[in-house]
Amino acid sequence: MTAPIRTAVFPVAGLGTRFLPVTKASPKEMLPIVDKPLIQYAVEEAVGAGMTQMVFITGRNKRAIEDHFDKAPELEAELEARSRVSLLEAVRNMVPKNVSCIYVRQPEALGLGHAVLCARPVVGHEPFAVILADDLIDGSPSTLQQMVDVYSEHKRSVLAVQRIPKEDSSKYGVIRADAISDRLYSLSGIVEKPKPADAPSDLAVVGRYILTPALFNYLERIGKGTGGEIQLTDGIADLLKAEQVLAWAFEGTRYDCGSKLGYLMANVDFALRHPEVSQEFAAFLRGHASTAV
Ligand code: G1P
Repeated sequence: MTAPIRTAVFPVAGLGTRFLPVTKASPKEMLPIVDKPLIQYAVEEAVGAGMTQMVFITGRNKRAIEDHFDKAPELEAELEARSRVSLLEAVRNMVPKNVSCIYVRQPEALGLGHAVLCARPVVGHEPFAVILADDLIDGSPSTLQQMVDVYSEHKRSVLAVQRIPKEDSSKYGVIRADAISDRLYSLSGIVEKPKPADAPSDLAVVGRYILTPALFNYLERIGKGTGGEIQLTDGIADLLKAEQVLAWAFEGTRYDCGSKLGYLMANVDFALRHPEVSQEFAAFLRGHASTAV
């Protein structure tokens, strides 16, 4: 059986201003959670969900992402010479052999909707996924796998959503929707970063989307929206007039790694499970808890 969704799009051209100065010369998507960069978690989630074409929408200062998924002959030779077998495997098999990485340059950071539109020539007429690497979601099956399963059944665009405190609505795309079942909703509206008083619900979109290619027709027509940017949310609002769009309240723990606090929380949780450091790190935290606060 062929996978229903072949292509994953990773918009990675953002400036990462919330993490300056570390993001001055290096991409925020290369920030590590323990020893793996955020973008690698995102790619592994897409590959795990059966996708074989990774499309990165890049911009200035994003070379490190291309290098990360490329071959590194000198490093491989060095690790081989030193018989560092497991590290060699990790470096060699960044993506499986049947997976291709394609880089599309977004000439100007005009917004998430514009970034997704830049993927159109590669995506063509198939449904595709969009993953925002700074939304790290831990869970099994992965959120994207859960959404692929929803797509396979309904053949509709699917947005990942979670409940948020209403006062946080101005950080997210927020949906208006009717429940179909426990976790599945049918959208009747979506707005980008509404004020709490204007938020249509407490269901916010987080960084996973499965979208039908019809979206591109709307994205190319919309103008600037919230924050003066071409918003993916506005394209989805127009798509909704033509097609049903679903939302899936995923099972999993989401870390907002676009914020310092969320990023630190992810590092702590992942370190506490990392085979190399978990025990000593847990002991360190226990010692720290009594003195830190
Ligand atoms: C983007 C989207 C927003 C979504 C959010 C999820 O916003 O525009 O609709 O809710 O990602 O993380 P950003 O966080 O890039 O401002």
